[in-house]
Amino acid sequence: MNRFYITTPIYYVNAEPHIGHAYTTIVADVLNRFHKMMGSRTFFLTGTDEHGDKIAQAARASGISPKTYADRISGLFRQTWPKLSVENDKFIRTTDAEHIKTVQYVLQKVYDSGEIYFSTYKGLYCVGCERFYTERELVDGKCPDHDKPPVEREEANYFFRMSKYQDWLIEHLESNPECIRPERYRNEVLAFLRDPLEDLCISRPAERLDWGIPLPFDSNYVTYVWFDALLNYVSALGYPDGELYREFWPVAQHLIAKDILKPHGIYWPAMLKAAGIPMYRHLNVHGYWKSDEGKMSKSHGTVVRPLELASVYGTEAFRYFLLREMVFGLDANFSKEALVSRINADLANDLGNLFSRTLAMTERYFEGEIPPFASEPDAMDRELLGKVENAISQFREEIPALGFHKALMAIWECIGAANRYIDHVAPWNLAKDAGLLPRLQTVMRTLLEVNRTVGVLISPFMPETSSKMLERLGVEKQAAESGLAENRFRGGLVEGTKVFKGESLFPRVETEDKKAGKKQEKPGPDAPKAEIGKKPEDTNASPIDIDLFRQVDLRIGLITKAEKVPKSEKLVKLIVDIGEQRQIVAGIAKTYSPEDLVGKQVVVVANLKPAKLMGIESRGMILAVRDGSDLKLIVPEAKTTPGGKIS
Ligand code: MSP
Repeated sequence: MNRFYITTPIYYVNAEPHIGHAYTTIVADVLNRFHKMMGSRTFFLTGTDEHGDKIAQAARASGISPKTYADRISGLFRQTWPKLSVENDKFIRTTDAEHIKTVQYVLQKVYDSGEIYFSTYKGLYCVGCERFYTERELVDGKCPDHDKPPVEREEANYFFRMSKYQDWLIEHLESNPECIRPERYRNEVLAFLRDPLEDLCISRPAERLDWGIPLPFDSNYVTYVWFDALLNYVSALGYPDGELYREFWPVAQHLIAKDILKPHGIYWPAMLKAAGIPMYRHLNVHGYWKSDEGKMSKSHGTVVRPLELASVYGTEAFRYFLLREMVFGLDANFSKEALVSRINADLANDLGNLFSRTLAMTERYFEGEIPPFASEPDAMDRELLGKVENAISQFREEIPALGFHKALMAIWECIGAANRYIDHVAPWNLAKDAGLLPRLQTVMRTLLEVNRTVGVLISPFMPETSSKMLERLGVEKQAAESGLAENRFRGGLVEGTKVFKGESLFPRVETEDKKAGKKQEKPGPDAPKAEIGKKPEDTNASPIDIDLFRQVDLRIGLITKAEKVPKSEKLVKLIVDIGEQRQIVAGIAKTYSPEDLVGKQVVVVANLKPAKLMGIESRGMILAVRDGSDLKLIVPEAKTTPGGKIS
């Protein structure tokens, strides 16, 4: 049986949980749920880091003992995770007796092997980071994390011979390119390693700091924070003798943000090597959540509290947003507007609509009973099945490789395709003709199976929505998941089972526009969906990554028919060949007459949500540029095959 072990950093108890902590922990949860779903035995660890100057100082400021202080904040972290649907197997505290025992065991072992020595050190120390800095690491003479100059400090202390492991570590990272992911962070660690490594100071005199684990070989000293904290990853498994250690350590994966890359990419491997513990398998490093393009900070009032967001917008939507919005490894900006826009566009409109339309029609046409596949799939069915199979394989490939946003994009492509399929096939027309019953059954069964597959694929991200969907489809989770391992599409649903539509999965969140009384069209259950979430024009809009651009399906179209829309000055109704015939309503009638247009090649946005303009359905958009009062169509430079994809 495959095994999977994932850890988050253990969080300092000097601040309450915020969106950054929530992101890491939710990513770990998604990975853990995914691997569990794929049949692995899994172990998921999180916890709190409770020793050190910073915490002792914070406790003093609150007028309570460090332990009482740590209990309180650690409790906040522990209570937060279940509220965000995080299911960790263990919550470790560095004040736990078993952890302390392991730390002392490792210290003694490394000391006995001569890898820890006593010496005097004078250097530049950042109180915020609780570590000495080299001149080169400072930015403008200041600690890059705290933007404050470090203080000079001299101390006799214990040192770990970290420098000795430099060559081994370079060799390990070079021969295991996947060890630190994504690659940019592996390169960053290798860049650190181009300079000679210094030995690591691992103690503090107990007279100055007694809030730490005493060194087993000198009780006048306590362990410096990193030597204590990093060992949580093995102490939680009962190292050295624990069964869990034997089972899960060989597949260990850590998840951190870039702020603690150096301790995890350099100190920890050297510590492991010195202690004779095998190296971890992966260090997965993500970027930073920023707010208003800045770092989140309490003093700027830019700390985003995860529980507040989850209680206003829903845990599921919050989880989806975090995983969809951040490209793993890069920084992302948090804004409530972006969150609301994802809820309304992706969840309420795309997913919610697909589910409610499908179930409403099943209730209407088959009294809620799942119909059989009564005819062979046609080309359109096969195209939709292709999207579903692609979503399944992307899900299986991208999640373990940390491409969460890509997995979600593939799932949403399939949701979009299913919504377009409904608009195209128009089941309400099939229902009018008894002779078309087998086709209607196949269409609805196909749609129900697409909903089942989507319900399964979203489960690591939105476990409750997934359960709701599968329950309403009358299918057990295990049965629904069958076939996933082989990318199989069919199966899972049982013919004749009753489905029920229930309440909408994601109610729309009111936007400022709506509150201000601007008119918004409300689509009927089976109607093509109206365009929503349109963003204002903004030439200074924040840059988008290439993946976002790739979501826009731009095609070469050939206009084969054009006629003016009656009673409209601007609108013209076109039939455009983009590899398939599309009806598109365009606002270009003031500049182009219908005769001018026929035979012209244009650029079409092919995956735009269908909309109704003056009651006429439009399925796509033609690109044009406004030049003064003129409007000019964007055309290919030479004749091009219709349907050609623009990239
Ligand atoms: N206690 C140490 C870690 C010891 S691990 C052996 C520590 N704690 S921390 O509370 O500062 O947590 C840092 C981690 O919190 C980051 O690595 C990341 O997982 C998460 N985040 C905190 N702020 C963040 C953002 N603004 N954005 C993304 N994640 C960040 O360091």
